[in-house]
Amino acid sequence: MQETMETTQAMIDHLAAVNKILEKYNYSEAKLVPILQDVQAVYKYLSKDMISYVATSIGVPPSRVYGVATFYAHFSLQPKGRHIIKLCDGTACHVKKSHGLLNALYEKLNLSGDKRTTSDLMFTIETVSCLGACGLAPVMVVDEEVHGQCTPEHAVEIVEQILAAEKAANK
Ligand code: FES
Repeated sequence: MQETMETTQAMIDHLAAVNKILEKYNYSEAKLVPILQDVQAVYKYLSKDMISYVATSIGVPPSRVYGVATFYAHFSLQPKGRHIIKLCDGTACHVKKSHGLLNALYEKLNLSGDKRTTSDLMFTIETVSCLGACGLAPVMVVDEEVHGQCTPEHAVEIVEQILAAEKAANK
């Protein structure tokens, strides 16, 4: 019962945040891309329900919103973790053994190239091309924080610190 109430409250909070975004853009179809960007910035991905809600709110068919969401590579239709780890695999980082970081993180989080989000939705690992900080290669960005000249050990340490902080916050 408690869980159901919390779930319902979470849904209400989500819709309130989406309504704010829609208001900010005046429910305008012309602003569909920024609307979806803002929604994804809050929820990390665009769920089917969210796509339908946005479509209904701005008065277009869900297929139109879905079409836009699938056209742009930066929109995700899959749930992502609370913490996003972006590993650069551009040339400079690749030469400096970025794959070592990737393998260490895959092992630590029990992930792989086919499964990039942990089952508890805590972490998502993304590989990206040049982050524009080649002098710091290999580069990893965790929740927008840049870690340069990163080693596999340091990458795992960062994950452990986040896990410890999450645990402490949930006590
Ligand atoms: S190649 Fe990794 S930051 Fe440029």
